[in-house]
Amino acid sequence: MKLLIIGSGGREHALLWKLKQNPRITECYVAPGNAGTGTMAINVPIEATNIAGLLQFAQEKKIDLTIVGPDDPLAAGIVDQFQQAGLRIFGPTAAAARFEASKSFAKDFMKRHGIPTAASETFTSSEKASDYVRQAKYPLVVKADGLALGKGVIIAQSAEEALTAIKEMMEEKVFGAAGETVVIEEFLTGPECSLHALIDGKNYLLFPDARDHKRALDGDQGLNTGGMGTISPSGLGVTKSMRARLHYEIFVPFLSGLADEKIKFQGMLFPGLIITKDGPKVLEFNARFGDPETQVLMRRLYSDLLELLEATIDGKLDTVSPWWDERPAVCVVLASGGYPGPIEKGKPITGFENVTDPNVVVFHAGTKQVEENIVTNGGRVLGVTALGRTLEEARQAAYAAADQIQFEGKQLRRDIGELKFK
Ligand code: AMP
Ligand code: GLY
Repeated sequence: MKLLIIGSGGREHALLWKLKQNPRITECYVAPGNAGTGTMAINVPIEATNIAGLLQFAQEKKIDLTIVGPDDPLAAGIVDQFQQAGLRIFGPTAAAARFEASKSFAKDFMKRHGIPTAASETFTSSEKASDYVRQAKYPLVVKADGLALGKGVIIAQSAEEALTAIKEMMEEKVFGAAGETVVIEEFLTGPECSLHALIDGKNYLLFPDARDHKRALDGDQGLNTGGMGTISPSGLGVTKSMRARLHYEIFVPFLSGLADEKIKFQGMLFPGLIITKDGPKVLEFNARFGDPETQVLMRRLYSDLLELLEATIDGKLDTVSPWWDERPAVCVVLASGGYPGPIEKGKPITGFENVTDPNVVVFHAGTKQVEENIVTNGGRVLGVTALGRTLEEARQAAYAAADQIQFEGKQLRRDIGELKFK
């Protein structure tokens, strides 16, 4: 079987690492990939957003299954185009990817179907949005409607901050068309957790819970990033009774809402949750695997991933029941100095050979092979991922390995998995 994975992050390396365990897979391509994927598959220099180029490649190579990592090609309709060409592909169509690509669409859907979420208003006029925030209570959350690389969410402490956010998004268009519409919502408090569930149109299959660490610096300080590290389980104690609430309050109305509105969603649904004192609420929906959540989830998945992805595409998720490793996993991201701001690329990375602990896998993200060297090539560079009998053991293994790897400007958080909830 010939596989094509689209993307170049730690998520794609982790998916490839897991999929390669299946002997049915004989040929594997990653577009565009990174130095890590290049050791396990053939990297193809086609960008993830170049849908025409990817389609042509998949047709020429007679790819049997394509798996899409990032959000942009999904929102741009890569799945629709591959399906029209008769190719098998994992991910939601553009219409279904709107759950991530349009926050107002996701909020309206949740309101229509009674899925718990922060109260919100949507605005397409900056004047009306400004009038609204002048008489609102603070803090207040201002969100660009579209995809904004995780930077489109501003937690405003005052009307002044909210007005600045509205001006930047709606008038100065710092996020382009993504900020022409804004969603303004109530500020919620509580610990956050990442859920992942495969959706085949009718059934869902919930993965173990995970927790991201979005801020750049220890103690949840600094700017929001794509994620500086993850743990699974989340440490929030997603018990049987919490799972029952998630089932009845989120997944059942989500699936029946899809049926009512004739939306065909097949792929990964990744709700970002906040556990408030009134129960779990959805902060956002993503329509893809999380990064770096996928790194810890793939370390914990015992069963075959290919079987799960195929069952999703074939509408047969009710026939699979994967096994998960009971042991906790920790992923510590090594980032380039300055991330999430401007960074320098091309710094040689050394010390991979010193990571010998069999419980540790180093997933590559922003890395590139240049002759004999592996050099940095992005904000998030590596995801050092460890299993342990306890969370503490996994943390120690991940940090011991993270300390073996060096590159100029290396930046990491030291508190991934320290369970302190505000
Ligand atoms: P989102 O991209 O919508 O998940 O937002 C990114 C981050 O902003 C979340 O992980 C939260 O930490 C924070 N956030 C988003 N919406 C809210 C909200 N309504 N109340 C409090 N924090 C929020
Ligand atoms: N780690 C958060 C995300 O993938 O959106």
